Amino acid sequence: MSVEVSDLRVYYRSLAGDVQAVDGLSFSIADGEIMGVAGESGCGKSSLGNAIVLLTGRMRHVSGTVAIDGTTLPIADAAQMDPYRYRTVSTVPQYAMSALNPTRKIGRFVNELLKSRGIRLAGLHDELVRRLELVGLDRSVLDRYPIELSGGMKQRVVLVVSTLLNPSLLIADEITSALDVSTQKAVARMLVEFRDLGFVKSMMVITHDLAILHEIADTILVMYAGRLAEKAPADELVKAPLHPYTRLLLSSLPDVGIRYETRRLAGIKGRPPSLIAPEPGCRFRDRCPYATAACQTLILQRSSGTRLLMTRQMLRYLGECS
Ligand SMILES: Nc1ncnc2c1ncn2[C@@H]1O[C@H](COP(=O)(O)OP(=O)(O)OP(=O)(O)O)[C@@H](O)[C@H]1O
Ligand SMILES: [Mg+2]
Repeated sequence: MSVEVSDLRVYYRSLAGDVQAVDGLSFSIADGEIMGVAGESGCGKSSLGNAIVLLTGRMRHVSGTVAIDGTTLPIADAAQMDPYRYRTVSTVPQYAMSALNPTRKIGRFVNELLKSRGIRLAGLHDELVRRLELVGLDRSVLDRYPIELSGGMKQRVVLVVSTLLNPSLLIADEITSALDVSTQKAVARMLVEFRDLGFVKSMMVITHDLAILHEIADTILVMYAGRLAEKAPADELVKAPLHPYTRLLLSSLPDVGIRYETRRLAGIKGRPPSLIAPEPGCRFRDRCPYATAACQTLILQRSSGTRLLMTRQMLRYLGECS
């Protein structure tokens, strides 16, 4: 088992109280698995990704563990996490394209980055050029400033650089969102290729785009309001979703070939609850068409590999949901 996340809780400090952005998530990612993470804006996808790499700003590790290849990562301590970054876990963050330093040529940027990891570019230069060529970029990009590259080119540079040390886990956060459709597809295919070539052992691909995930992910984890709604093999999740939220999320997507004018999309009525001191029980209940009184105390969630919702009450609940 390559990645094991257990009961992870990461909150943000705020004047109004803790924002419970990641609240008790447990899941695992197998070697070679590309796991998609989906869910509407603000449900905690980036917070989950960031928590595994670097706790930023007001983020606080409340409880839970993240283990990669059997080693528990010291995620609460930025300095102790340093040796694991890029080598064990690496990230292409949301808005990565603007992460390239505009005042540095790409080559110098990579050099400085590796130097900060105690690695000399000289030993990796040939491999860097080989991988740039693999994603369709000429070595001359190293002599160019970020402003001279298109969005898709910058995204590919960041992908190559973040995986140069062959990390066990790559977290790619919305890396296709700012690209046009054909570039999106090309970048998504590159993720699969990088996994197939062994540049990365497993991946967490965060995106709103369930269609892309269905195409490239082995499994999909759906989050709702800081919690796991369900995780299942991609095809199973898309064709036979169990959680009412996943069903609504999928039904609010356009079918291939159907024009918006022909059939209005349903969307999901209502809004997620505040993540500051949310009520106990299922966080989806106010928007769920199947909600019953039991949902005030229940949490409906399914982890990888199980179709079980434990406890009698939950099974009854599932019966109503089906
Ligand atoms: N620095 C912060 N301080 C306080 N709250 C924050 C901070 N960053 C994010 N949050 C809150 O944490 C929750 C999860 O945010 P996060 O960015 O992880 O969501 P997301 O699923 O990645 O959304 P999106 O799809 O828009 O990128 C939201 O309620 C957000 O308002
Ligand atoms: Mg995000």
